[in-house]
Amino acid sequence: MGGKKKKVRVLMVCLGNICRSPTAHGVFQHRIESAGLEEIIKVDSAGTGDYHVGEKPDKRARTAAKRRGYSLGGLRARQVQAEDFERFDYILAMDDNNLRDLTTLCPKPFRHKLKLLMDFADNNYSAVPDPYYGKGDAFELVLNLVEEASNALLEHIKTHDLNG
Ligand code: 4NP
Repeated sequence: MGGKKKKVRVLMVCLGNICRSPTAHGVFQHRIESAGLEEIIKVDSAGTGDYHVGEKPDKRARTAAKRRGYSLGGLRARQVQAEDFERFDYILAMDDNNLRDLTTLCPKPFRHKLKLLMDFADNNYSAVPDPYYGKGDAFELVLNLVEEASNALLEHIKTHDLNG
């Protein structure tokens, strides 16, 4: 009713912020826009490591995403910052190593924000496998898993954060 709606902020996190989390960032942004919720739900991504800071997403990730209509070319890698734990509502790790590293960095009052992205998907995967040293189709699996989890995450946020 005319009031200023609170934003919901989502941070996708992997190790390098050049393969999995930028893919999740681009796919979830696409879902947000398709739902017309870009003024309310904000997504960003970051890495626990600093090896690739400032780089575009990996070429293989960009190519695979582009084939499905997602553009990752405008993204640049950054490392997780202390402020992220306060700023974001959902901080979603791609795998258990990322979650462990985030838990070490995250102040206790914000630890409830940390989850695995795949917690939101109803399948047999608990993590998005690291595709960096994988074969070509590793990036297709990343996209399949991220698309499934993104759909479920959007439904979760609509139900739990946006009054249904
Ligand atoms: P990401 O993939 O965590 O999905 O971005 C990786 C990117 C770089 C490295 C490892 C994983 N690396 O070792 O440089």
